[in-house]
Amino acid sequence: MSDPLVRSRRRLAGAALSATAAVVALGTVLSVSTTANAASTLGASAAATGRYFGTAVAAYKLSDTVYSGILDREFNMITPENEMKWDATEPSQGQFTFTSADQIVAHAQAHGQRMRGHALAWHSQQPGWVASLSGTALRNAMINHITNVATHYKGKIYAWDVVNEAFSDNGDGSRRQSNLQATGNDWIEVAFKTARAADPGAKLCYNDYNTDGVNAKSTAVYNMVKDFKARGVPIDCVGFQSHINSASPVPSDYQANLQRFADLGVDVQITELDIAGSGTAQANTYARVVQACLAVARCTGITVWGIRDSDSWRSGDTPLLFDNNGNPKAAYTSALNALNAGGTTTPPTTGPTTGPTTSPPTTGPTTPPTTPPAQGGCSASVSLNQWNGGFVATVTVTVTAGSGAVNGWTVGLTLPSGAAVTNSWNATGSGTSGSVSYTNVAYNGSIAAGQNTQFGFQGTGTGPAGTPSCTAR
Ligand code: XIL
Repeated sequence: MSDPLVRSRRRLAGAALSATAAVVALGTVLSVSTTANAASTLGASAAATGRYFGTAVAAYKLSDTVYSGILDREFNMITPENEMKWDATEPSQGQFTFTSADQIVAHAQAHGQRMRGHALAWHSQQPGWVASLSGTALRNAMINHITNVATHYKGKIYAWDVVNEAFSDNGDGSRRQSNLQATGNDWIEVAFKTARAADPGAKLCYNDYNTDGVNAKSTAVYNMVKDFKARGVPIDCVGFQSHINSASPVPSDYQANLQRFADLGVDVQITELDIAGSGTAQANTYARVVQACLAVARCTGITVWGIRDSDSWRSGDTPLLFDNNGNPKAAYTSALNALNAGGTTTPPTTGPTTGPTTSPPTTGPTTPPTTPPAQGGCSASVSLNQWNGGFVATVTVTVTAGSGAVNGWTVGLTLPSGAAVTNSWNATGSGTSGSVSYTNVAYNGSIAAGQNTQFGFQGTGTGPAGTPSCTAR
């Protein structure tokens, strides 16, 4: 499935993104629900559990009103099927073309959908010029590519597939032999650090296939993620493609495998779901996959790899949720019912998760229930991703449970000597070294009791230690 395939990508002239376009990826904490609603669309039903339901989209199909009608009704996350790949975005070295991908992002922003970026570094769908490079020249080309693409979409991507399909199917847990692998075993971590520096607000994912169950390949990925976490290499999520057919059925330990990755402190996502088949068997398998994600608190969403069967890269397998006419199949009803039946409801938050999760403190003075709640208090905790020479800090601001709501907050932190902040997101900063403080921006100042929001900043040197102060207004 990773071999180069005939591609049907077409380019359309798309409107350039407005500089004032809404930033979709940042700043919102998804709503919590402990009761599954009988929502009537995939996206709304997934959202009721704090998750998303997405699809792969081809830019040239957006003018098809049946296609875009289903897209905008059912889905709240979009992955460009081909338009952000290396061959599409940098067809000649140093010449970047974003027209088709920009068109998809503009569509998402206009319809309140978030974006998964796909894929920054991959052995497949590389432009021809990459094949003539090796060693340092190829490594630098990869770094330049990631920097340019992730910077172009900075603030607009919920999660990036930074590295795609880097492990082999040999059964020995080895890396896939590729030109990128030949530049040195550290190419994957360099890719992740480069992506973090370019867009610190995006979650950074590793994505692969044949990793859906516990096997040699998924265990090799697992060990890599564990090592990255231990060494502070930025990684926030792992994508499981889940291209399911009779040769590659849903493994019996699918949920357990998702859970073991989640237990490493990363989000997990089902990123390219399609299930060959028809009728009840296909419908039941869709339900099973949905149930597995819902049973894992850090499974933050599901993306199907296309809308109608005719849109599929494997259309002969009729693997999707809508038939060629755009009518929902039994698989659709089954997936929707499974979503509506609910699951674990720990809500994932947007923005990168950059380290082992530390539960924000929720204890504190409580107000007697009969007294109108006074203005709330707040606390803050930091999750740090540190690497040699730099860091990203993600700060969770939590309003004390049982107190009143707050209308604004300021967090104070102390940076060790030599450290300097280079940029921040979701907050307005004051100071770049020593004592620094961050105040809410317009959209994240009002927080109810017990709820939280996140902001972050990036810098050189060593990140802040200790518990930050939090003052509420
Ligand atoms: C596929 C697309 O769907 C096709 O249109 C294209 O011709 C080839 O790539 N793994 C991935 C996806 O990560 O990018 C691939 O998408 C499917 C397999």
